[in-house]
Amino acid sequence: MDELVVDNIHTFYGTSHILFGISLKVNRGECVCLLGRNGVGKTTTLKTIMGLAHAGQGAITYNEKNLIGLPPYEIARMGIGYVPDERLIFPDLTVRENLEIGEKAPLTRDVAPWTVDRVYQLFPSLKPLDGRPGGYLSGGEQQMLTCGRTLMGNPSLLLLDEPVEGLAPVVVQEVTQQIRHLKKMGLTILFAEQNIKFATEISDRAYVIEGGRVRYEGTMEALEQQSEIKEKYLMI
Ligand SMILES: Nc1ncnc2c1ncn2[C@@H]1O[C@H](COP(=O)(O)OP(=O)(O)OP(=O)(O)O)[C@@H](O)[C@H]1O
Ligand SMILES: [Mg+2]
Repeated sequence: MDELVVDNIHTFYGTSHILFGISLKVNRGECVCLLGRNGVGKTTTLKTIMGLAHAGQGAITYNEKNLIGLPPYEIARMGIGYVPDERLIFPDLTVRENLEIGEKAPLTRDVAPWTVDRVYQLFPSLKPLDGRPGGYLSGGEQQMLTCGRTLMGNPSLLLLDEPVEGLAPVVVQEVTQQIRHLKKMGLTILFAEQNIKFATEISDRAYVIEGGRVRYEGTMEALEQQSEIKEKYLMI
């Protein structure tokens, strides 16, 4: 079943027209990536879904409920979690407090709610930092903390904006495993990415974006064969 449906959205920042009719679907349990170079509209697409950027035209539904025009907090309450590319942690709060602030009851009873301990199981390197102020964490640790805080809100769909950008290769490996684990737990994931190699490791399907438009959509296996698309629109 389609969980998220984005249909022909046009998004504007003021008078700048950024997205030109983006359409995409994410099915329940899938991990889908928005692939494309710098400045093509990946973040804007995620922000439009989350209600943080304004779609002047088009439709977005989540489990068949309209999202257009709703404020971000209502969209979050419907079960969508957003992990932005900036690491929005509270520097003066401890790691545990940063996590507790994100706590929100799950929408259904059939899933085990996230707890601080479960976040530490997923991100073991956060556990020894429990009492440390967030501002003293490394970039990779802050990224995990931001993701952990979003998980504490018990989302069923996770929007991740370039989750491994700027991370050391060994941390990228770790995050790859963690995202696979989240998928196994049944979370639906839509994420933005520039690097096709990382995207291939975790995604089922990709939408290749350029100039605010979808230029290609298909499975990762099919995209692998499309050397022209990869050369034209991606960093390889
Ligand atoms: N707040 C804003 N006001 C005006 N223009 C913006 C704003 N944010 C982004 N843009 C422009 O919108 C376009 C798409 O930006 P977006 O951040 O969605 O790209 P992206 O694919 O996420 O790129 P990156 O890989 O750099 O994160 C860019 O041309 C950018 O300059
Ligand atoms: Mg971006």
